[in-house]
Amino acid sequence: MKSVKSEAPASIANLGPCFDTLGIALSEPRDIVEVCVDESSNGIVIEKIEGLTNSNISFNVNHNTAGLAAKALVDRLGLKIGLKIRIKKGIRPASGMGSSGASAAAVVYALSNLLGLKINSETLIEAAAEGERAAANFPHADNVAASLIGGVVVLKSHKPLEFINFPVPEKLRFAIVLPDIEVVTANSRAVLPSQIGFKDSFAQLSGCAYLVAALLKGDLVRIGRAVNSDVIIEPARAKLIKGFSEVKNAALKAGAYGCSICGSGPGIFAICDENNQESILGVMGDTLKDMNIKFTGFKSKPSNEGAKIIV
Ligand code: HSE
Repeated sequence: MKSVKSEAPASIANLGPCFDTLGIALSEPRDIVEVCVDESSNGIVIEKIEGLTNSNISFNVNHNTAGLAAKALVDRLGLKIGLKIRIKKGIRPASGMGSSGASAAAVVYALSNLLGLKINSETLIEAAAEGERAAANFPHADNVAASLIGGVVVLKSHKPLEFINFPVPEKLRFAIVLPDIEVVTANSRAVLPSQIGFKDSFAQLSGCAYLVAALLKGDLVRIGRAVNSDVIIEPARAKLIKGFSEVKNAALKAGAYGCSICGSGPGIFAICDENNQESILGVMGDTLKDMNIKFTGFKSKPSNEGAKIIV
């Protein structure tokens, strides 16, 4: 049976103010997806899910991010083909680290390679974004775009998909804590305001533009200030993440340039450099320990590498 295996990295979406419009790929962790052509059928089957999985990850193609993404690509190209998909989760689901997006990115990347499809990144990102319906009820593309092509991706629109990508700032490092709190993306989108006033939209727009400029300049201090400028998304979601404000205050006091929620949470990232990354991670973890909140903490860095084929 013909098969191809690919892996795609975790990512952080939003980076504070750029809700659904900006994603940055991380060097690790990664999800691995294997896609095989099944000549005996015309359908898509999720055959195996292993690794850091949980009971929310469905084997039903219509409720699985990789299944939906594969289906979107196959349907879009009008292919009649049977596929078997095996998923190995290296990224904790419902962490805010683009776990669903990485599986969706890996599956479309593997599939296009397997079938020798000559299609552009926009088509792959659009199909992978369809996979996000399984987690978020909405096909947002910030995580999948970063996971697929690596680096920083800024999206102008989803339909038609338009983006600009550029390399990650060399000195940028993250300290990340993932509290053991379940935050489902669909729920953390449901708490967002349905309307915002002119003052807040102006502030958010400024923060977002400033963030992109600071990322392009590789200016960590200004990246941090922009990350801290979210007046809409973070205030609405912070209440879903016990310990968020305490961790943020502690990280900033310890010298982090900025701190906010990884995507839809509950992960919390701090903007650091190589010299203060370890100590800031320590302080963030100690804060959660003092509050008796279990967590996983790790140092991370952004990466220009997106999805790739592995053997
Ligand atoms: N932009 C998405 C959100 C990312 O904030 O809901 C989900 O990880």
